[in-house]
Amino acid sequence: MSYINWDQSFSVGVKTLDNQHKHLFAIINQLYDAYESKKSIEVIAEIFDQVLEYTLAHFSIEEQYMLHYRYDDYNEHKALHQNLAAKAKELAEKIHDGDLEAVAQAHLFLKGWLEKHIKKVDLQYAEHIRATKAQKDKIA
Ligand SMILES: [Fe+2]
Ligand SMILES: [Fe+2]
Repeated sequence: MSYINWDQSFSVGVKTLDNQHKHLFAIINQLYDAYESKKSIEVIAEIFDQVLEYTLAHFSIEEQYMLHYRYDDYNEHKALHQNLAAKAKELAEKIHDGDLEAVAQAHLFLKGWLEKHIKKVDLQYAEHIRATKAQKDKIA
């Protein structure tokens, strides 16, 4: 069973970034499945590392898009990414130490991130990119 599903309400209107978000949903669902089916903490830690690695790559690409489109709230958005990354790294360490409680926390944290960060914060730059593109089309 899926823990969380991507639907159009998560779309930021940029295909590359939507695809990355979808991939994140997929790895987070894998993590949830592994936890639900009582896989070993080593297996869970490995999947969590994939979530972390992919997240860091995604944040960096998202930040490049924001710079490219001269997004005003770039610094604030980047700071939020840094907070999320720090929290995820902290959880990764605990999971690697065998802390099962941290796995449960990780699910709530990841779900909250997807729901709140994408829907509130990412959708704001999406609006900006859309407006900038529309402006460019008008000039062209
Ligand atoms: Fe994002
Ligand atoms: Fe973001």
